Amino acid sequence: MIRVSIVGGSGYAGGDLLRILLFHPQVEVCQVTSERHAGKMVSGVHPNLRKVSRLKFVAIDELENCDVLFLGLPHGQAMQRIEQFEALAPQLIDMSADFRLNDSDAYERWYGKPHLCAERLADYVYGIPELHRRQMSNAKRIASAGCNATATILALHPLAEAGLIDNAVVEVKAGSSQGGNSASDASHHPERSGAVRSYKPTGHRHVGEMIQELQCGNIHFSATSIEMVRGILATCHVFLNQSLEEKDIWKIYRAAYGSEPFIRIVKERTGIHRYPEPKLLAGSNYCDIGFEKDPHSNRLVVVSAIDNLMKGAAGQAVQAFNISHGIEETTGLEFPGLHPL
Ligand SMILES: NC(=O)c1ccc[n+]([C@@H]2O[C@H](COP(=O)([O-])OP(=O)(O)OC[C@H]3O[C@@H](n4cnc5c(N)ncnc54)[C@H](OP(=O)(O)O)[C@@H]3O)[C@@H](O)[C@H]2O)c1
Repeated sequence: MIRVSIVGGSGYAGGDLLRILLFHPQVEVCQVTSERHAGKMVSGVHPNLRKVSRLKFVAIDELENCDVLFLGLPHGQAMQRIEQFEALAPQLIDMSADFRLNDSDAYERWYGKPHLCAERLADYVYGIPELHRRQMSNAKRIASAGCNATATILALHPLAEAGLIDNAVVEVKAGSSQGGNSASDASHHPERSGAVRSYKPTGHRHVGEMIQELQCGNIHFSATSIEMVRGILATCHVFLNQSLEEKDIWKIYRAAYGSEPFIRIVKERTGIHRYPEPKLLAGSNYCDIGFEKDPHSNRLVVVSAIDNLMKGAAGQAVQAFNISHGIEETTGLEFPGLHPL
């Protein structure tokens, strides 16, 4: 068994990670941290885990050595304590943004302050398995990708690889769990409920990841909070630099993702679920991707959907963990979502 602990296990991403890892056949969850809830049952914070786990939270300073430490702290926290974490486990899988950008100037540009340990950035594999599977094998440091970045990068990567993107305008609609479990004025129920709130029309930090991974500067990204708890829908308006028909686009996406276990091309002619829809993905690790070519222009609309806490965080981190240990990639991640929900 691989002995695993979770730092930041009282959070939304850490909680979903715990839910998955408790059922992973090759994992023993040893410790789960929360500073606020140290000493209390994990099921007190994650009620879905009642009768599933009798673990109690510990404080970070009570952590013992283990094989793998998953980090689910707010951004900026992991890098402050990185030496402590490195001393506890040979493998670190970080779900925060601290080690996603491999260039310290890019980090400073997108996060507005210098990185505290820029010399470590090169040690981390960017955590989208579909792009970096080979580097993940035996990797000791993995920086799981941002949720908006994951939805956007997976939607656009096949086109970027083929050099087809002139410009891409991406609008993401996001659920409230993206903001984590701390209450704020913006998350107060009368303010958040029913919202269609443009919260980041420009300058979203995840754009740094998109530029890094797509190697394409012409990505224009906006994010809107909508009435949803889990889920992200990315609508990507791609202005192609050559004239392509739908059959050409099919070929490109099939070649890129045809054998991927967690990517489904969703593009039906009939029915009510013709294109990707986050509601169908709650709790699952799938990324659904669909597209439609505008017959009147060079615009290709690519639509992708994920559960932000799964393919956007915990699920993707476990997928990377599996690959890094040579375990079947889908282990622990077989849940197909619910319908209806
Ligand atoms: N939510 C998402 O959709 C999503 C998706 C992808 C990636 N992520 C990333 O995953 C990380 C966690 O996100 P989340 O949504 O799970 O956040 P969250 O719900 O706010 O949870 C944060 C966790 O970090 C702990 N924590 C907070 N400040 C701390 C500090 N100063 N020292 C020690 N522990 C501290 C909290 O423990 P206490 O119980 O002590 O407060 C809690 O366990 C973030 O970096 C986020 O960017 C989140």
